[in-house]
Amino acid sequence: MKNINHVGVAVADLEAARAIWDELLGQTPDVEHVATQRVFAAMYPCGIELIAPETDDSPISKFLAKRGSGIHHVTIEVDDIDAQLARLANRDVRLINKSAVPGVGGSRVAFLHPAAAGGVLVELKETAKQDKHGESGSDE
Ligand code: CO
Repeated sequence: MKNINHVGVAVADLEAARAIWDELLGQTPDVEHVATQRVFAAMYPCGIELIAPETDDSPISKFLAKRGSGIHHVTIEVDDIDAQLARLANRDVRLINKSAVPGVGGSRVAFLHPAAAGGVLVELKETAKQDKHGESGSDE
């Protein structure tokens, strides 16, 4: 486990939320459509990520209906997500994703179940430019 990579904030309306956060942070986010999660994600350079649902059946829609807007997840960067997931599975930590799935910007991510972390949804993230394979330019 390395550093906190970002904190995800669930919002119902991305434009309304951006009106607040662009001003508050004095930054402009990179906005990306994450098809696997059916969300739009706006990532600010400082590490705040706004997540808005694309559709009513998005996991974020369910979160918003239940808990309203607010902090949704904390993401920790890891060197080797496969090794970390194997380690956690060995310790019977409850995982939402038993293996890594594609994340923003070519990263690989996996969520732990909030029940495993005192009610906090924890995301592990292995960024695309990790050098664990010891080579470059062969992935995309
Ligand atoms: Co995130």
